[in-house]
Amino acid sequence: MHSELAYEITVLPGTNRDGETEGFDRIVIRPGDTISIVGPTGSGKSAFINDIEVLALDDTVTGRNILVNGAEAPEEMVRDPAKKPIASITQNTRVIADLSVVKFLALHIRARNNDARELISRTIALANEFTGEKIKESVRMSALSGGQTRSLLIADAILIGQTPILLLDEIENAGINKERVITCLREYQKTVIFVTHDPYLALITDRRIVMKNGAVSAVLEPKGRESGIIATVTGMDTSLWDLRERIRAGELISDRQPTAKTTAKKAGVPA
Ligand SMILES: Nc1ncnc2c1ncn2[C@@H]1O[C@H](COP(=O)(O)OP(=O)(O)O)[C@@H](O)[C@H]1O
Ligand SMILES: [Mg+2]
Repeated sequence: MHSELAYEITVLPGTNRDGETEGFDRIVIRPGDTISIVGPTGSGKSAFINDIEVLALDDTVTGRNILVNGAEAPEEMVRDPAKKPIASITQNTRVIADLSVVKFLALHIRARNNDARELISRTIALANEFTGEKIKESVRMSALSGGQTRSLLIADAILIGQTPILLLDEIENAGINKERVITCLREYQKTVIFVTHDPYLALITDRRIVMKNGAVSAVLEPKGRESGIIATVTGMDTSLWDLRERIRAGELISDRQPTAKTTAKKAGVPA
């Protein structure tokens, strides 16, 4: 498995949409680094993480080269998904096989020679820390919501695949507790690259890569200078998460605590 191994990824420059060489020398991503990729839609964010996922060697639209531990990735790492130290989870990630959650995880465990039952329970429990809508063991993979699928795949990559590098492309929308996800990824010392429009995720990462016209236009390293705003955004986000969950649960959100009058109305009793 990958857990004992450390992988350092180096991104070498390619070209922007006009064929001009990118203005950085190299971007080195070390074990445990957290990075966000920001920029307008169409600026090349997904292409950037796709280059890492496929371990590009001047064979994608961007012309970038990706090195693993300073050299071209060994052939088998590119070919065999079980040897690839990278898991990519996007908004569109769906699992094709129409299996139950338990069977899906068991299959993955068997492929990786792990001890099954207890690990399945731990993986589902971890996924359920990430999603607001709890996953039931017997439900089919195809019946999971987007947020549930992404939560399960992140938990699977952490506990079963033990993948050291996770690429997460715009996972923030709906039904995923991103604070819990990032805390957990930090606990497991994962290398994480988020493509995101979410201020919280963009601020909380060690470095922020800014994309423009298909190229990297800046690499920002705030080094604590943004800590004030991070505290504010964390508070706002926690309130919003609470509010979202209460709305989803069908609560009426009044300015004050519910009065006897609104309670009566809600219950269909004339006030
Ligand atoms: N450096 C590049 N050179 C040429 N085409 C690119 C480059 N980067 C991205 N593209 C293409 O531009 C389109 C938008 O890029 P994409 O990565 O999907 O943007 P984003 O994820 O930021 O919305 C895609 O079709 C992609 O293949
Ligand atoms: Mg994209």
